[in-house]
Amino acid sequence: MKQEVRPVPLSSPYLDEREEELVLEVLRSGRLSLGPTIDRFEEALAERVGAPYAAAVSSGTAGLHLLCVAAGIGPGDEVITSPYSFAASANCFVYEGGVPVFADVDRRTLNMDPDAVRAAVTPQTKAIVAVDIYGYPCELDELRAIADEHGLALIQDSCEALGARYRGEPLGSHGPSAVFAFYPNKQLTTGEGGVVVTHSEEEWRLLRSLRNQGRGDEGGWLEHVRLGFNYRMSDVTAALGLGQVEKLDEILALRAEAATRYGELLGGIDGVELPLADDEEHVRSWFVYVVALPDNAARERVIATFEREGIGFNRYLPSIHLQPYMRERYGFREGLCPVSEDLSSRTLALPFFTGLERDAQERVADVLRSAL
Ligand SMILES: Cc1ncc(COP(=O)(O)O)c(C=O)c1O
Repeated sequence: MKQEVRPVPLSSPYLDEREEELVLEVLRSGRLSLGPTIDRFEEALAERVGAPYAAAVSSGTAGLHLLCVAAGIGPGDEVITSPYSFAASANCFVYEGGVPVFADVDRRTLNMDPDAVRAAVTPQTKAIVAVDIYGYPCELDELRAIADEHGLALIQDSCEALGARYRGEPLGSHGPSAVFAFYPNKQLTTGEGGVVVTHSEEEWRLLRSLRNQGRGDEGGWLEHVRLGFNYRMSDVTAALGLGQVEKLDEILALRAEAATRYGELLGGIDGVELPLADDEEHVRSWFVYVVALPDNAARERVIATFEREGIGFNRYLPSIHLQPYMRERYGFREGLCPVSEDLSSRTLALPFFTGLERDAQERVADVLRSAL
């Protein structure tokens, strides 16, 4: 009889009775939005990342968009960001008429190369959106120096990097405003959601107004002092987040253990490049486990085998500038960011989540080895 193989999903959230309890508390309280649970979640998250202020929002994209509004990005302003990221890293300013300028990435870190960022600055540049891709901290100090030198806003897209540390301190604590995201594949999930952390009380007040339809601190429900959005997070969602913050240390540790196990299992396979190891200045928070294969053909061979074997995967990440809408809108073509394009053609996300167990990882490694 053929033995049944257990599928291995790409990702899976890590929840238990604590989240159920907290969500139930909110449901029973009747305070489903703009209630006290939002404040509790924001305080817990701010403390966790070492920032004085946090504003919870409906998604990471919403948080990035609000920071672009707060930075005053408008039509024709150029904004430098990474091509090797999720589309929202660029969409957040395109919504305001900002023009994307992609600075190619460093082959080792997969984050923007500061030299490429410096070379991309023009008199029209208004801001830099720095991404910590796959939870690996970007070169924040170098990017900040470029931003300061040219009077640019610096926005940290740390959507994938909650819990990562740069030069000994958690991302979110360094000064530039940062966004973390909570989609179910993230380290911490609220289903949908995000948070903006800031070191400016003034910006925090502005973010709270912008996410709440432009209402002011004073004034009534139907008074709007500025053009705002409905980017609020509900208290039900925040309750889920509170439960997750309580177990964040455990989550990060389990993910780091799973990553170490992959390192051991995959290390000896010819043609598999592993994710960059931490160093003194960069401590990754494990979001996904992405390997690089020799070329696109090898990747497709692995994918075909994974599909047959019920193993989850994704072609993380396509280069943003080559997405159909970007080509159409701005005329971007192949060759603009060669390093990013090369990575996009051969990087692959393997199943990775908090509760991932060794036997599943062994199976992934065995299948990967046989496919190559
Ligand atoms: C780098 C990056 N930026 C932004 C986002 C957007 O977050 P959300 O999906 O919560 O809008 C994501 C989420 O996948 C991301 O990975």
